[in-house]
Amino acid sequence: MSFDLKELMEQRRGENFQLHARYLNPQLAKVVKTLGFDRFYQRGEGCYLYDYDGKRYLDLLSGFGVFALGRSHPAIKDALRQAIEADLPNMIQMDCALLPGLLAEQLVRRSPSNIERVVFANSGAEAVEAAIKFARMKTGRSRILYHSHAFHGLTVGALSLNGSAEFKSGFGPLLPGATQIPFGDLDELKKELTKGDVAAFIVEPIQGKGVYELSGERWREIEAAVHEAGALFVCDEVQTGLGRTGRFYAFEHYGLAPDIITVSKALSGGFVPVGAMLTSDTIARSVYSSMDRAMVHSTTFKGNQLAMVAGLATLQVFDDEGIVSHAAAMGEVWKARLSELAGRHEFIHDVRGEGQMIGLEFGRPTSFGARRRWSMVESARKALFSQTLVVPLFHRYGVLTQVAADNVNIIKLLPPLIAAEEEIEYFCHALDELLSDAERNSGWLVEFGLTMAKGVLKKTRTPSDATSRTA
Ligand SMILES: Cc1ncc(COP(=O)(O)O)c(C=O)c1O
Repeated sequence: MSFDLKELMEQRRGENFQLHARYLNPQLAKVVKTLGFDRFYQRGEGCYLYDYDGKRYLDLLSGFGVFALGRSHPAIKDALRQAIEADLPNMIQMDCALLPGLLAEQLVRRSPSNIERVVFANSGAEAVEAAIKFARMKTGRSRILYHSHAFHGLTVGALSLNGSAEFKSGFGPLLPGATQIPFGDLDELKKELTKGDVAAFIVEPIQGKGVYELSGERWREIEAAVHEAGALFVCDEVQTGLGRTGRFYAFEHYGLAPDIITVSKALSGGFVPVGAMLTSDTIARSVYSSMDRAMVHSTTFKGNQLAMVAGLATLQVFDDEGIVSHAAAMGEVWKARLSELAGRHEFIHDVRGEGQMIGLEFGRPTSFGARRRWSMVESARKALFSQTLVVPLFHRYGVLTQVAADNVNIIKLLPPLIAAEEEIEYFCHALDELLSDAERNSGWLVEFGLTMAKGVLKKTRTPSDATSRTA
């Protein structure tokens, strides 16, 4: 009997959570259920997910930034169909295939002039691992610096550069000499750099965890200090790259010229995992320095044809549909609409981010009733308020969002880059109603409490810890 995907999925429909609990990660199954996010999705299209009951969900997570072009973009589907139909000679290994060359050419063309070489990988973390290795080889030094709150992936090297202790706990010892720099702290950075053993400082130009930003001036001081010390400046654009912030790379906002760039997520077209590390010819040559070193850094699936096709088709859609300038324009709409809400809702303390990467920070209100409700929520657990919004946003309005990091009241919005005024308006309307409820009475809290009524709040860790512990 031949494989029939539709029939298989129909036969086993509804077993999702049992299967995950039995064979994958039972804790994740529990978290999703406890938050009441346990839905049976049937399909995804554009900015929306649809469940088997026909309910529509606005996806403001976009798979942590993967679905830049939305889900199921017809051009990417068509490109992948073409690739499969063509019986491409994939991963011959002792070969130099055309498609990786073409995708590398496209990426280099969109990068600053010092970027001349591409090393493909399968994920963001793997691209970061490559950056660590190339920086060490080029400089002959071992230490890597990273920012507080940084997130660069969860493989051992990338994990060593993670700014949250919770991720690292129990997995050590990690990379020796990896050192955390308080976000934007130039003096601390210089102190570490003067030790003379730093290979690289890796940064997210806009931080994923909490959507924290620095001024262009501070970034340029940081870059200059790193170069002055003979170290490499690495911009991790796995999340911010490919138009997310309204520029092709987020570092363009600040006029930076990194030695190494990492990309991943959006390059996949939402279909085929891929990552890439981009760098200069000199840095690349320090690793691939002779014929017998041609494979010293490599991976079996590098240049996998389907990933290359997805990447090439994605970049073409970027050009055809003006994705980057659309993301920039929508960033202005987000800021205008959310600032207007911030003017009316005292719970909103900050609106930040660029393009389609937005952080909404909530804080203690001043008026008596609202302040009382805030204290009630926050005394149950620090930074719970934002979770009390994320849950009803999903249940009441079908909007998928996330808390941006542990112990902070920040909701992060990471919509598909194609999201337009309609989606922004829908979200703002939902948030407006919820915050009005929270200011007037406790209905929203009862709604949240009912969802969480399984006693989770009594445990030391709540699901918000786990859901925020992702990109
Ligand atoms: C800035 C950044 N770097 C690296 C990674 C790791 O990517 P991956 O999850 O594909 O390993 C992420 C993932 O969210 C990220 O946001």
